[in-house]
Amino acid sequence: MKLYIWGTGCGAGDLVDRWLDPASVTAFLDSDPTCDRFLGRPVMLPEQFEDSSDALILVASSHTEEISLRAASCAIAPEKLIYVKNNWLLSDRSAACPGAEELPAPLLEELRRRPRLVREPLWASDGALSERDLEGDYVRVRTLEAICRELDGVSGAAAELGVYRGGFARCINALLPARTLYLFDTFSGFDAAEAAREGRGFTAAHENTSAERVRSLLPHPDKAVFRPGLFPATANGLADERFCLVSLDVDLEESTLAGLRFFVPRINPGGYLLLHDCLSPLLPGVQKALRRYEDERGTHLHKLPLCDISGTVVISV
Ligand SMILES: C[S@@+](CC[C@H](N)C(=O)[O-])C[C@H]1O[C@@H](n2cnc3c(N)ncnc32)[C@H](O)[C@@H]1O
Repeated sequence: MKLYIWGTGCGAGDLVDRWLDPASVTAFLDSDPTCDRFLGRPVMLPEQFEDSSDALILVASSHTEEISLRAASCAIAPEKLIYVKNNWLLSDRSAACPGAEELPAPLLEELRRRPRLVREPLWASDGALSERDLEGDYVRVRTLEAICRELDGVSGAAAELGVYRGGFARCINALLPARTLYLFDTFSGFDAAEAAREGRGFTAAHENTSAERVRSLLPHPDKAVFRPGLFPATANGLADERFCLVSLDVDLEESTLAGLRFFVPRINPGGYLLLHDCLSPLLPGVQKALRRYEDERGTHLHKLPLCDISGTVVISV
């Protein structure tokens, strides 16, 4: 095999360092080579790449957009390139690449474990999540995936308050197939009085759902316990329940506060609560509810803000 590596930065250095004998690299490609050798191997312009049936390029740079365009302009076939690092746009650029089988086995295994690489729709490393699950808010969903991996020794059910059409609930159910998943929602939109108090006019936009619709989306519907109606009344009878993971996503202040009051004390140590929209300037009630909860408890919760689309804050217990 003639193995090329596109990139001469730390990504390329790390790739070789961890997985490859530098002598196995035919050459490095770089659109702006500052020197003609890297790690003892030649560096060439992409235009100088000489294709052959056994040639393969590992792209070890996250500038994938730019590189794919440059490759196309050099008439390098997409199946010659394996994008070892993708970028935040998250479109997998790796095409089916038969030559990948020739890579050293540990590297191939590592590549297959990573998201979005080589021949399979590997958008998530354990295969529980689909490409579609990740389209809307990749950071939030991959964070959920990482959190779920941390829950092995933590007992308790999972729950979502604010389910709407079940997009995120589906992910929780897929990632925690053995856990009971409580789903709290009116399944007919916000409480009109609460929305009016907070001056929100989006209630109608959340009416187009139903518990049946959500159930049909779940990969493990047998684990779901639907609690339709207005929270917190729908938590009746659950005072002794314990949780390992809660998604709290009700947009408005009073319902968020009710959710914090009910769930936080019932999350087992090592568990998490994802508070959606907490940093969103569009929904200031969520952060106000968190402040009110901390004030009334006289404590600061352990919080990790995410850079996801809606400003989720992860609370760890
Ligand atoms: C933004 S949506 C949830 C989106 C969902 N978590 C997702 O990521 O796909 C907010 C939902 O909260 C529900 N909701 C708000 N306040 C509620 C309350 N007090 N009790 C029950 N459901 C409530 C609304 O009906 C709406 O469906």
